[in-house]
Amino acid sequence: MFIDSHAHLEMRAFDRDRDEVITRAKEAGVDYIVTIGTTLSDCEKAISIANKYKSVYAAVGIHPHEVKNINDLTYESLKEMAKAEKVVAYGEIGLDFFRNLSPRDVQIRRFGEQLELAGEIGLPVIIHDREAHAETLKMLKGWKGSRRGIVHCFSGDYEMAKKCIDMGFYISIPGTITYKKSDVLRKVVRKIPIESMLVETDSPFLSPEPRRGKRNEPAYVVYTARRVAEIKGLPLEEVGRITSENTKNVFGIT
Ligand code: NI
Repeated sequence: MFIDSHAHLEMRAFDRDRDEVITRAKEAGVDYIVTIGTTLSDCEKAISIANKYKSVYAAVGIHPHEVKNINDLTYESLKEMAKAEKVVAYGEIGLDFFRNLSPRDVQIRRFGEQLELAGEIGLPVIIHDREAHAETLKMLKGWKGSRRGIVHCFSGDYEMAKKCIDMGFYISIPGTITYKKSDVLRKVVRKIPIESMLVETDSPFLSPEPRRGKRNEPAYVVYTARRVAEIKGLPLEEVGRITSENTKNVFGIT
């Protein structure tokens, strides 16, 4: 009934109780979880978790925070990993000009290379954009690939969302939709069609209300879906059904 399109189950925050977390998601009606590796070793871990649990799929790629560590062998390893049966996307890749944990020029160069690589491998992309809206749009526009993918944890305004959708991307809505200050995001949800929308947790980060401040987990994607349902004036089941269809379409999950 729901899919969490973006979680980080491989992160250490879940080492102690990953089994329970995945079980709780299922009990909450979350049929599938896509877990996103951010470093080479976390990508391997993401794949092994996906291999263990029927309800989990994986994405591989190097997060903008980590791109300063890319070396000659990194892309070869990622290409190999991408062949695994449960890998459904390349990412998350993009730009983070909020934390700047990798230098900006390196982020831009590596983002371009990873877009090309994703195109070559033939996987949809998962885009990370924090405080880098104009640069992200510019990179996506300049990309010669097939532009299949998702802008995850969307934080832009409606104009940006419209541009992304027109290019062929889906918009993934995070738990921040429940926060008091998130008027811009609520306006995005109000104005874009539900057919272009996914929901996600980005767990263990960004817990929605009323869980804010605690560790996030895939079961809580339902809080996000509920808020989307209120804003769109749709039954919760409809939001779950349509966003799940969208997620299956973009990732090719059957
Ligand atoms: Ni993430």
